[in-house]
Amino acid sequence: MDQNICIASPSLALIKYWGKKRMPGNLTATPSLAVTLGGLETETQVYPGPEDFVLLNGKVQEAERYRGFFEHLRRRLKVDQHFHVRTQNNFPSSAGLASSSSGFAALTCAAARAVDRALSPQALSALARYGSASASRALFGGFVLLPAGARRAEPLLPAEHWPELRILVAVVTEQRKPISSREAMTVTRLTSPYYRSWIRSSPKLIPQAVSALKARDIEALGAAVRLSYSRMHAVLLASDPPLTYWTARTLTVLNSCARLRREGIGVWETMDAGPQVKMLCLSSDVARIKQALSEQDERIRFIEAYPGLAPRFVDRAQREVRYA
Ligand code: DP6
Repeated sequence: MDQNICIASPSLALIKYWGKKRMPGNLTATPSLAVTLGGLETETQVYPGPEDFVLLNGKVQEAERYRGFFEHLRRRLKVDQHFHVRTQNNFPSSAGLASSSSGFAALTCAAARAVDRALSPQALSALARYGSASASRALFGGFVLLPAGARRAEPLLPAEHWPELRILVAVVTEQRKPISSREAMTVTRLTSPYYRSWIRSSPKLIPQAVSALKARDIEALGAAVRLSYSRMHAVLLASDPPLTYWTARTLTVLNSCARLRREGIGVWETMDAGPQVKMLCLSSDVARIKQALSEQDERIRFIEAYPGLAPRFVDRAQREVRYA
């Protein structure tokens, strides 16, 4: 059977990368540690076509966002042909849910297959980085490291290491984010007086988070995760103009997490370049956390994610869910 649909899950950074090296290649200025989010999926099919063309959730995408990536892909795969891409997400796109990580991971795998190249996950990770740095992590399942300036990500621990871990996503709005993470990174680098301290201090959270992860110590991991996103958002807020992705509903969720922790429930939040809040917790606490948040605001929607798998290929008949 022809298995040409690639399914990839997004990569959520527990310890964030924010900022690029000042050299070509989309290399990250800070290291990151991430978990691949099972339950959230991008599905992508790629065919040879007369020109590069990307249809995401039925909408034609701006060619400019993909141009450099496709050119790099053709050079590295030593092909001339163009790619016709159909892709869909089962979660909101460009809303701070790391859709570019799963998007470029699935696209890289499906494009390599479309031209009959069997590449290692490491080689695919290096290619996906050109599309989006976080996509280099989404080439692996479980828990993944991307060292600062690295060309490819490294798998650290498989998903089975911590099956009870949950990442509860509070979707506070499905609107697209006002400014892309790429643009925001440039603004912070050029204008935020805190940027240099961020670059110096954020690597220190990696060893702390890695040992907590290895020991499955959610309290120690949660503390490092909170420091990482808080410091990243402090850099954003100190930019000129100040950049903030938070909404009133975001703050409701953050305050509820703090209250739940005071009451002894283990929940630690993180945020990316968008208003959604992702909460780290154990499966046994999910129902209680959802109930407490819904009591604060019944319009918050939840997606429950868990340590997920690396990209894989399926055929149409194997897809149980068709996304609209
Ligand atoms: C806040 O990987 O989306 O999610 O390489 O420019 O596409 P580009 O940026 P991207 O940035 C992700 C930033 C982050 C933190 C993280 O995932 O480490």
